Amino acid sequence: MTDFKFEMTGLPDLGVDEVLLKTVYFSVDPYLRGRMNDVKSYVHAFEIDQPIESSGLATVIESKSDKFIPGDMVIGMLPWREITVVSDKVIDKIDSTREPVTYFLSILGMTGLTAYIGLMHICKPLAGETVVVSGAAGAVGLVVGQIAKIQGCRVIGITGSDEKVKLLVDKFAFDKAINYKTTNDLNKTLGEICNDGIDIYFDNVGGEVSDAVMSHLNSQARIAICGQISLYNTTARPLGPRIQPILLGKSAMMKGFLVNNYKSEFPDGIQYLTKWVNEGKLKFTETTFQGFAQLPAAFLGLFNGENIGKMIVKV
Ligand SMILES: NC(=O)c1ccc[n+]([C@@H]2O[C@H](COP(=O)([O-])OP(=O)(O)OC[C@H]3O[C@@H](n4cnc5c(N)ncnc54)[C@H](OP(=O)(O)O)[C@@H]3O)[C@@H](O)[C@H]2O)c1
Repeated sequence: MTDFKFEMTGLPDLGVDEVLLKTVYFSVDPYLRGRMNDVKSYVHAFEIDQPIESSGLATVIESKSDKFIPGDMVIGMLPWREITVVSDKVIDKIDSTREPVTYFLSILGMTGLTAYIGLMHICKPLAGETVVVSGAAGAVGLVVGQIAKIQGCRVIGITGSDEKVKLLVDKFAFDKAINYKTTNDLNKTLGEICNDGIDIYFDNVGGEVSDAVMSHLNSQARIAICGQISLYNTTARPLGPRIQPILLGKSAMMKGFLVNNYKSEFPDGIQYLTKWVNEGKLKFTETTFQGFAQLPAAFLGLFNGENIGKMIVKV
């Protein structure tokens, strides 16, 4: 927490094509951790003494843009500020009548699309297949498991508490869930639960959880590498089992993906996600921290499993 500080600053004058925003909700996401390393990456690193930015929802207070009027609700990558001036090019208007509006940051936004694209475009599930998802009670994982159920798959979730295990099975229709923190031998437990093997692994966490999945892959298995949160804070180069012989022997396909490389698939994805939400086939939940000052705590909470569903901060 000592790595974060809050400051009072003045606001610049509003320029042409700019809007003054009052931020309402921020999304905090594991990938922000990567932007705290000063290394070459697909997204540039945060600068020290500059505000962190993440996806947020805001209300337009004043506008010198012909695209927005006061009262509009917008979404965009926004600096962590309560009031901010931004260019009209970095925001889009959203339908503020949609309840809850935070769905645009979660199931009908980036994390929902990540689940949809990783599962449907990379893993291509078939009815009757066994799907394992790690980080199962998180923003992406909850959606992956439920879409896999809609496709007629058997779904096993791996997650970090008994409360989450119960919720996955009782509320989100997972067939089984495993608490990786209290299971002595995850490899053995997976072998017992998935006695017909694993056809699809949607990997949100990496590390030892993923190592345990590998020995149960079926022939022609597909693995989507979505996230590796268990390794984001490690400084040493992580070592693990050599999995290439397994992939070779099982003719398995493992592919990393970044959701933003699949923008052409977004309209289709949003259409399906919206349809399933409206039909009640896709349920969702969020964990909301209250108050702008809670942004760092909410972000750090992702690494302790403090969220069920999407982690959101209400400014
Ligand atoms: N490829 C892409 O384009 C893309 C897009 C979005 C997200 N992602 C990645 O997808 C993953 C999930 O993202 P999300 O937004 O849905 O986050 P999330 O799952 O809502 O939150 C993170 C969760 O990770 C689990 N976790 C934390 N430390 C862990 C550890 N050491 N081992 C195992 N699990 C751990 C915690 O749940 P437990 O209680 O289960 O431990 C925590 O709730 C992240 O790795 C993220 O970086 C990738």
